Amino acid sequence: MSERIQAPRGTSDVLPEDWPARRSIEAVAQRILEDAGYRRIETPTFEATELFARGVGESTDIVQKEMYTFQDAGGRSQTLRPEGTAPVARAYLEHGMHKAPQPVKLWYLSSFFRQEKPQAGRFRQFWQIGAEAIGSADPAVDAELILLLNAILEEIGVREIQLRISSLGTPAARVEYRDHLQQHLRAHADELSGEVRARIDLNPLRAFDSDHPGTQRVMASAPRLLDHLDADDAAHFAEVRALLDAAGIPYEIDTTLVRGMDYYTRTVFEFVSGALGAQSAVGGGGRYDGLIEMIGGPPTPGNGWAAGIERMALAAEQRPPVPPVVDLFVASAPREDGNGHVEAFALATEARRAGLAVQQELAGRSLKGQLKQADRIGARFVAILGDEGIALKDMESGEQETVESAAAAVARALKGRHPG
Ligand code: HAM
Repeated sequence: MSERIQAPRGTSDVLPEDWPARRSIEAVAQRILEDAGYRRIETPTFEATELFARGVGESTDIVQKEMYTFQDAGGRSQTLRPEGTAPVARAYLEHGMHKAPQPVKLWYLSSFFRQEKPQAGRFRQFWQIGAEAIGSADPAVDAELILLLNAILEEIGVREIQLRISSLGTPAARVEYRDHLQQHLRAHADELSGEVRARIDLNPLRAFDSDHPGTQRVMASAPRLLDHLDADDAAHFAEVRALLDAAGIPYEIDTTLVRGMDYYTRTVFEFVSGALGAQSAVGGGGRYDGLIEMIGGPPTPGNGWAAGIERMALAAEQRPPVPPVVDLFVASAPREDGNGHVEAFALATEARRAGLAVQQELAGRSLKGQLKQADRIGARFVAILGDEGIALKDMESGEQETVESAAAAVARALKGRHPG
């Protein structure tokens, strides 16, 4: 035997038993988002590398170390999408969606790719449900997006949810703040981790994310961006908070909240779950008023979030799986004319056309084996094609009757069907 090939590290198969939980997450998200006017979008799995370099930001971990980038046959650099916001912003621009009533509200359920170190809840290919509202700077957009994600997480039963919010202000306020922060970091350079020290110039904000004890001590007394917002940004953030308060949703202001993309402006937020380990973020997002301009469009405000499906499933209460409905199992007994299997196949087809959920014998089992299989999958009726015609067995009552035709068997099974 030759060497067995396995799935790439950090990826996982989504097996049949994983789908009920996923499907219910998807159904809840779809209903909540579409009821609020969000419409589904799917962008290509790969995009020009430049989109992420400019949109997500050259200095971010995603662009610097995590992207799956390749050259296509035309020599162009392409990248498997590490996230969905830059692609949706690109699609908004490309399809002239600024001409539609604003904001344009879009949602997606797609898979994304990041070459991160795999661990519990962190994969190299993962799935996100995301929502983006592009074209309005109204603080109500921010609050509504947060409430929608909260509603989804609550309905799917994510345990121990906590909401953290902050504001990053405008890029101008951030430049000024960066100076303050860099001064603070330089003054304490010898207490910082080597990695943080090396990035004081490039990305000092990431120091808030460090788990290095010395760095954490230095950051405890670091200046906070929230104290350096300009008047407009501070008023915007106050309005977002007032709307969240009015909706009665609890949150914590987290001045150390830094998200992994450079496109954020003003409101940022993250939902964490105590039911997850180190990778506790279930979903997060924020405003990105500069993104469309960064990728070559006119100034356009935007806001959105994404939540990881694997993490939502991990953090939600496990519900007992609901077995699929089987209205009819078509079995066939060996017949003298040897045509039993053809008629059984025809009956299964007819029953499916009539709308029944049908399974048929596909493994050459004995009649006894077929009845056992029908019982195992919870079939409501079993049709047995034999020399005497069609016997229809009601698996609930155990009664068996002979029906004169396939049509009669189908009609009987339809009548006895479970509602829903
Ligand atoms: P993000 O925080 O990078 O934001 O990802 C959002 C969520 O995706 C995370 O909270 C987590 O649940 C999940 N996730 C991220 N990376 C992984 C991974 N390697 N394995 C498993 N799950 C993961 C964004 O992606 C932004 N595009 C969100 C956004 C939308 N901001 C504005 N609009």
